[in-house]
Amino acid sequence: MTTSSSFDDLAERSRELLALIESAGSLDELRQSEPVLIGKRSPLAAWQKSLGSLDAAQRAEAGARLQDVRRQVQTALAHRREVLERRARDERAAQDRLDLGDVVVRSVSAPLRAGHPGLVATTQRELEDVFVAMGFTVVEGPEVETDWYNFEALNIPPAHPARGMWDTFYVDLGEPETVVLRTHTSPTQVHLMEAAVAEGTLPIHAVAPGRCFRRDTPDARHLAVFHQIEGLVVDRDVTFADMAGVIETFTRAYFGPDITSRLRPAYFPFTEPSAEFEITCTICRGAGCRTCSSTGWIELGGCGMVDPAVFEAVGIDVEHWQGFAFGFGIDRCAQMRFGIADMRALVENDVRFVGQFS
Ligand code: PHE
Repeated sequence: MTTSSSFDDLAERSRELLALIESAGSLDELRQSEPVLIGKRSPLAAWQKSLGSLDAAQRAEAGARLQDVRRQVQTALAHRREVLERRARDERAAQDRLDLGDVVVRSVSAPLRAGHPGLVATTQRELEDVFVAMGFTVVEGPEVETDWYNFEALNIPPAHPARGMWDTFYVDLGEPETVVLRTHTSPTQVHLMEAAVAEGTLPIHAVAPGRCFRRDTPDARHLAVFHQIEGLVVDRDVTFADMAGVIETFTRAYFGPDITSRLRPAYFPFTEPSAEFEITCTICRGAGCRTCSSTGWIELGGCGMVDPAVFEAVGIDVEHWQGFAFGFGIDRCAQMRFGIADMRALVENDVRFVGQFS
């Protein structure tokens, strides 16, 4: 590059400047050639200075050409800078690139550990098996119910204090009817009886397992989302003793022959008489411990003879049919059977816990 300030070679020099810009291979190189291109010692500066020695007419013409060259140089500089910046960015990206395909392929080629059903699902299936062996069929009811099924048909009218036992989540579907996440599996009793009446298929011997919801704060023995299994028998000449027998048979079949059951008087609006059923504490085998508050017994669920008001709600003739119902927690069964100190472990998905029940 010459430093000649003659305007004769302006065109040729400017081509050299533009070529220099184009040949810069990196942002650093471009930055280093900036003084030559646009600095105080650049040909542009020299030409600018020499404008003063020209006469007015020449100066106007040369000034315009110089302005043109300056613009070309600046445009070329900006363009080259952009190209080099993009190239630098791409190179950095290529270096930082994490080949996820590679990661996936490698992890797939490592031995895969197969999953398995969770403890609650396994427990539910085992409970179903016990009842199927006793002649029950297995049905499922909806998890979202109207107020009628969850409460009213079960002899729990609006504002009845017993509703407090099943305080729950209400669902706003914009429907005139109140809709709730079911607080127990007992509404399945109503579905079963309504269907049997409509189809003329009484008697009923059914169990209905499923998910339930309560506005409970989770603790060692409660979950807000939990599982129950409901039992319903509607037949002729059914007695309280039949119910006690079914519960005792189930208890021994599921928990083992050294675990037994007992009934204690209780209240449920949809059964009369009602009872709570308890089983021998599986932790201390009846000796008394912290889990059973030293009583040797653990409450598992509720039961009783179907209340005539429920039969009336579904249109079953109380003169000809009797029935009993029971309901208890599936999660609670799993907890008792396996001595799980904190029920929350059932839903936390800690593989160290889950893996023990494969
Ligand atoms: N549904 C009752 C509860 O969740 C249990 C129960 C079922 C009681 C059937 C009596 C008959 O507490």
